[in-house]
Amino acid sequence: MFSNISKRAVRNVSRVATQARFNSTKVAGEFSSPLNRLATAGAAATIGGVTTYAYLNSTVMADASAEGLHPPAFPWSHNSPLSTFDHASIRRGYQVYKEVCSTCHSLDRIAFRNLIDVSHTEDEVKALAEEIEVEDGPNDVGEMFQRPGKPSDYFPRPYPNEEAARAGNAGAYPPDLSLIFKGRHGGADYIFALLTGYVDPPAGVEIREGLNFNPYFPGGAIAMARVLYDGLVEYEDGTPATASQMAKDVSTFLSWSSEPEHEERKK
Ligand code: HEC
Repeated sequence: MFSNISKRAVRNVSRVATQARFNSTKVAGEFSSPLNRLATAGAAATIGGVTTYAYLNSTVMADASAEGLHPPAFPWSHNSPLSTFDHASIRRGYQVYKEVCSTCHSLDRIAFRNLIDVSHTEDEVKALAEEIEVEDGPNDVGEMFQRPGKPSDYFPRPYPNEEAARAGNAGAYPPDLSLIFKGRHGGADYIFALLTGYVDPPAGVEIREGLNFNPYFPGGAIAMARVLYDGLVEYEDGTPATASQMAKDVSTFLSWSSEPEHEERKK
């Protein structure tokens, strides 16, 4: 049927556009955002006229109501068996996680020492760990005490338990991000698409109060609001912190953190 043909055409156009833009921005390492790509696909699709636009909306609807829009595949440096992670991106991604995501999401499997020689030097990691306070003990009189963090400590959790996390997020639970990576199909592609994919709901779609429309999220209505906006963090290496750059970096960081042994295996 018509919609199938145009579907393929739109996919191809957007894949080519994505690839081209990815290549041309290789130096900064920035991805084009799905919003841009939707715009590109939309522009290309105007050749077919109004009906094609209608199709775009209906695909978003149909896919989103099932398992979410399929995220586009990006050429991540760590996807090929012989290449390794982009370490500068992991470092920037850690900064995004720390300054933005860690307000709500834990990352239970990662200790500060895991960053050593991956994204940070040993001295830097000691300093990062010391910024947190850790409860330790009991001491020799049986009391718990607070001490500065050490590289062997795991990343701190934003909430003491699930109830507190839900209470702080209008009933929704911000999942541990090392687990979500394995649990959701698409890995880094999915996280990138999700973070940059917030759009207004298509005409006729009602989103419940407190939820946000995101075609990449299964069901289309997500409790997490859009969090990344241009200039939200300031990168020390001078990379412009656009929303898509931050999304790329944090996706790379989370990809590494879901499998910190990855680099070891390739040595
Ligand atoms: C203000 C709190 C808050 C912040 C900040 C936040 N999130 Fe979330 N996030 C949530 C909540 C709540 C959910 C659960 C959404 C739901 O189930 O509807 C969630 C869900 C997710 C999911 C899971 C989606 C799925 O498929 O289930 C991912 C991935 C995610 N967030 C990534 C991030 C990343 C990466 C950042 C930082 C750039 C971030 N979040 C910042 C609150 C937050």
